[in-house]
Amino acid sequence: MKVLVTGSSGLIGSEAVAHFDRAGHQVFGADNNMRREFFGPGGDTLWNLERLRQSTKNFTHVTLDIRDRPRVLELFQAERFDLIIHCAAQPSHDKAKEIPLVDFDVNAVGTLNLLEATRQSNPEAVFIFMSTNKVYGDSPNELPLQELATRWDYARPEDFNGIREDCRIDRTLHSVFGASKTAADVMAQEYGKYFGMKVGVFRGGCLTGEHHSAVQLHGFLSYLFKVARSGETYSIFGYKGKQVRDQIHSADVIAAFEAFTRNPRPGEVYNLGGGRGNSASILECIAKIEALLGKRISTRYVDENRVGDHICYISDLTKMQKDFPQWRITVSLDQILEKMARAPM
Ligand SMILES: NC(=O)c1ccc[n+]([C@@H]2O[C@H](COP(=O)([O-])OP(=O)(O)OC[C@H]3O[C@@H](n4cnc5c(N)ncnc54)[C@H](O)[C@@H]3O)[C@@H](O)[C@H]2O)c1
Repeated sequence: MKVLVTGSSGLIGSEAVAHFDRAGHQVFGADNNMRREFFGPGGDTLWNLERLRQSTKNFTHVTLDIRDRPRVLELFQAERFDLIIHCAAQPSHDKAKEIPLVDFDVNAVGTLNLLEATRQSNPEAVFIFMSTNKVYGDSPNELPLQELATRWDYARPEDFNGIREDCRIDRTLHSVFGASKTAADVMAQEYGKYFGMKVGVFRGGCLTGEHHSAVQLHGFLSYLFKVARSGETYSIFGYKGKQVRDQIHSADVIAAFEAFTRNPRPGEVYNLGGGRGNSASILECIAKIEALLGKRISTRYVDENRVGDHICYISDLTKMQKDFPQWRITVSLDQILEKMARAPM
């Protein structure tokens, strides 16, 4: 296959490039290092691009801004990709409030540019869109919760597995980022359902791995390791630090993409996180990392939660597992942390 990965120097994009290159496909990566523009030097992704250049066999990097519609169309007409994995984004909800226009242009309009370029150049292609659990806004916070010693958890047994894809996406507080991703998510579904294209929408929980250019505003676990190593102070915002995220390793994200590519279901939406087994609160993650590194992490508590932040978010993986029975989480939370502890960062 001829594969295009957007956001190819980022966490998920780079894992996709490495995977499809290893599998023998011709892989193009589009990234303009905009993460550095969003987050400063800590967000620079050029080291990751260099790593890919050194480790791949059939990879071509294109410095392309997905907002540049004519250039996007030109590239798609020239290459007629069979598989598009769209991971380029402005990924932070705290950042989005400073730059709502740029955020929308990248996340919503950029996605539309890619969908339409696919339709015009090769409507038979498989298109994977990396969406987010922020499309549900803060509606997951409406579930009854119970406070445990180190985490919040769902109070009712029927919520044990977490948030399903039928969770409400409107009449909820998304944050500016959540709204631009929702626009893209709904448009991607439309290209699947209305145009019949093989579009899959994956709503990420907390995606993690060793190749994140982590910054305070994005890349939770890697940033926590960065802070632990540098001896800086980590700020915890609200909910007593007991807010729960489900961590999925980037390799398990790409395995889900691979499964969809083999058996695409036009316009389908999947929650994709670490699930109940890989869920942990901030306090629990800090304790685990402290134990692994054998040192204390300095923290500061700010008694105000981030706007629209989830109190307890666990992705219900039932639909993923029903549609793709071979797919499962292969990297446990402890294994994720061990990998990150070993990685040169
Ligand atoms: N990391 C998470 O926890 C998480 C959770 C849910 C959803 N997601 C989504 O998954 C996707 C990938 O996330 P990630 O963590 O790999 O992000 P990342 O920031 O590591 O990677 C995104 C890449 O896109 C590039 N990019 C940004 N704007 C661009 C533009 N205009 N043109 C071309 N390239 C551009 C950046 O330079 C960066 O390399 C994003 O859509 C994000 O919203 C991530």
